[in-house]
Amino acid sequence: QTRALEDSFGRVASDLRVSLTDRCNLRCNYCMPAEGLDWLPTDEVLTDDEVVRLVRIGVQQLGVREVRYTGGEPLIRRGLVGIVEQVHALDPTVEQSITTNALGLQRNAGALAAAGLARVNVSLDTVRRETFHQITRRDRFDDVVAGLAAADAAGLGPVKVNAVLLRGTNDDQAAELLGWCLERGYELRFIEQMPLDAQHDWSREGMITAEEIFARLAEVFTLTPAVEPRGSAPAEKFLVDGGPGTVGVIASVTRPFCGDCDRVRLTADGQVRNCLFARHESDLRTALRSGATDDEIADRWVVAMGTKAAGHGIDDVTFLQPDRPMSAIGG
Ligand code: GTP
Ligand code: 5AD
Ligand code: SF4
Repeated sequence: QTRALEDSFGRVASDLRVSLTDRCNLRCNYCMPAEGLDWLPTDEVLTDDEVVRLVRIGVQQLGVREVRYTGGEPLIRRGLVGIVEQVHALDPTVEQSITTNALGLQRNAGALAAAGLARVNVSLDTVRRETFHQITRRDRFDDVVAGLAAADAAGLGPVKVNAVLLRGTNDDQAAELLGWCLERGYELRFIEQMPLDAQHDWSREGMITAEEIFARLAEVFTLTPAVEPRGSAPAEKFLVDGGPGTVGVIASVTRPFCGDCDRVRLTADGQVRNCLFARHESDLRTALRSGATDDEIADRWVVAMGTKAAGHGIDDVTFLQPDRPMSAIGG
C-alpha cells in the first residue's frame, strides 16, 4: 500500500462498495417505478476486467480491505462469480460479500462460496407472500426464501437480512419478521428509509424511525444493547430476549453514523462516489479507457476523497437528494 483513501476529516475508507449493475429483477415500490428506470447503456458499464483492475488498485495501493458488491441486483451480473474468483486470487484476506435480493442465490450460492465470497446480506421486508408481492411488484417470495436457505447452507454466513419498514404496508410486521429470522439464525437489521428513491417520494413523516421500530419490537421482545464494539458498522446491535439472537437497527437518518464512515463507492459505470449522498462523482472509467496507469488511477481516487462531506446533511435546509437513486449507487 502506497497511499490511503483519507478524507479531509481524517476518515480513512477501507470498505469498497462496488455496484455491478443498476438493473434489478424486482421493482420495490419505495425504490423505483413499476416500469423501471433508464438503465445505463451497456458500453458505459465497466467490464469484468475493468472492475477487477479497480479493485486490485484499491487493494494493492489504497488500503481496501473489504469489497461489497451491490446493484441494482448484483446476482444478475453474469461475471459475478469470475470477479469474486479473481479478487480472491489477488488477495484472499480481502473480505468479499454481496448485498442482494437473493433471487438466483439458490442456483449460485455454492459457486460463489467456492469462488471466495465470504457472506451475503439479503434484502427482505416481509415474510408474507402478499405483502412481498405488493412491495416488490413480483410474486417471488418463495425464491427469496430458497435463496436465503441456500446461502446459509453454502456457508455464506452469518447471513444478514435487511428490512425497510413502510408506513401502512409492513410496519406492523416488524416482530413477525424478527421471529422468522431468529428461528432460522439470520441476523435481521431494520433500516431507516433514506431520501434515495428514484421517485423522490421520501418524506421524514413517512419514514419509520428507529424509535418506532423499537416500540414495535418491544411489544413482543426485550432488547438490550449488545456489548461488542460497533466500530464503523451502520447497524446498532441489540440482544433479543437476552440472546444469543440479535437484531440491528440502521438509523441513518435519526442517528447518523457518518463520523465513523469507512466506505467509498464505485458505480457500475466507473464513477467514484465518496458518499451515498455525494453531489459530485469522479470519473475513473474515462481514465481506465484512455490508458491511465495504475498510479494515475490511484491518484485520481485519492483526490476524489478530498471532497467527502462530513455527513449526509439530510437535516440541512439546503439538502438536495443526489441525482442517482439508491438502485444505481448500491445500498
Ligand atoms: P455488514 O458489514 O454486512 O454489516 O454490511 P452493511 O450493513 O454495511 O451493508 P449492507 O449492504 O447490508 O447495507 C445495509 C444498509 O445500510 C444499506 O442498504 C444502507 O441503507 C445502509 N448503509 C450502508 N452503508 C451506508 C452508508 O455508508 N451510509 C448510510 N447512510 N447508510 C449506509
Ligand atoms: N433507504 C434505505 N434503504 C433502502 N434500500 C432501498 N432503498 C432504500 C432507501 N431509500 C435498501 C433495500 C436493500 C438495501 C440494498 O437498501 O431494502 O435492503
Ligand atoms: Fe431492487 Fe433493491 Fe431496489 Fe428492491 S430495493 S428494486 S431489490 S435495487
